[in-house]
Amino acid sequence: TNYWVVALTDSAEHPYIQAAAELLRSGKCVAFPTETVYGLGADATNTNAVENIYKAKGRPTDNPLIVHISHVDQLNTLVTEVDEVSQLLIDAFWPGPLTLVLPVKLGAVSPLVTAGLSTVAVRMPAHPIALQLIEAAGCPLAAPSANRSGRPSPTRAEHVRDDLDGRIEAIIDAGPTGVGVESTVIEVVDGRIHLLRPGGITKEQLTAFGTVLEAGAQDIEAGIAAPKSPGMKYAHYAPQGILTLVKGGSIEQVALQIQHMIDLAQAMGHSTGILTYSEHKNRYHADLVASCGSLAQPDSTAHELFAALRSFDDANISFIVAEAFADKGIGSAVMNRLEKAAGERILRLL
Ligand code: TXA
Ligand code: MG
Repeated sequence: TNYWVVALTDSAEHPYIQAAAELLRSGKCVAFPTETVYGLGADATNTNAVENIYKAKGRPTDNPLIVHISHVDQLNTLVTEVDEVSQLLIDAFWPGPLTLVLPVKLGAVSPLVTAGLSTVAVRMPAHPIALQLIEAAGCPLAAPSANRSGRPSPTRAEHVRDDLDGRIEAIIDAGPTGVGVESTVIEVVDGRIHLLRPGGITKEQLTAFGTVLEAGAQDIEAGIAAPKSPGMKYAHYAPQGILTLVKGGSIEQVALQIQHMIDLAQAMGHSTGILTYSEHKNRYHADLVASCGSLAQPDSTAHELFAALRSFDDANISFIVAEAFADKGIGSAVMNRLEKAAGERILRLL
């Protein structure tokens, strides 16, 4: 696997970007930075190329991919229609971490991209290198997060190398990503915004453009077609150790409870890890106490989450307890990822 370091200011003419674009045009996979996480790109119109993505990641082929474009105009080649609310959201948030599910134009992308659905997920990333690369390749790029299926998403090029070295053609390294969690995925139905995956654009930001229905909540309302994201059913973001999430309670209660669980696990022979705000770090003792952002900077938890989860794997931690983080703004996306990593193992303090 080629490993190419570029600067954020490099243009589409840069030799590495040209080389990557050439690989993409010939049906190969290239990992590249976006403002959310690193993506594993391939020509969305070429079925062999898209197949290579699924193979490299070990991803189930019934989980569709996001198509990345570099110009708003490119959208017309991919979808049959853009409803009014979707258009307003595009005007407001592109380029940026918002993915829209729209009716796909027949034959515009490989059926493997959409996993046979009648819709396609599209976004325009707010990252100069991603935009230059799409531009240079001259085709829309299908790109899931560039991790092995089931692993935390990569926020640094080294994470991509750890997971996919030898399985893909090239990695473009432009440093750590900014947002740190994936894009928000939405589908507008009858003017209402269905939130399929919380992410970089917050629910609060979307609310200005219409009613926002969260996944699950819409099922309660009878008679409304509830759009779903196939990806939601998969256990994502799992570190190798068992992760338990502790919700509710005061920080004093939480710290007592977590330390108690850790001490028991340690006595049973586990290697132990704790995920916490940096301000709470000195409340704990474990083999690895990983801080995940600061109470004082709400966006920093999203920025640091996936690297922190990977640090537990690097240290071979078998038992992890995570504090709950503030469930608002981008913190909602952080909590969504942690709840998925925890599965059933969520402890609620009164
Ligand atoms: O930030 C991101 O979105 C990153 C970067 C690389 O752009 N990409 C990413 O892709 O997270 P991926 O494949 O890991 O997640 C795509 C999500 C999945 O949950 C998938 O089920 C959903 O988008 N999705 C894709 N096409 C869909 C469709 N037609 N309808 C509903 N959900 C769809
Ligand atoms: Mg992913």
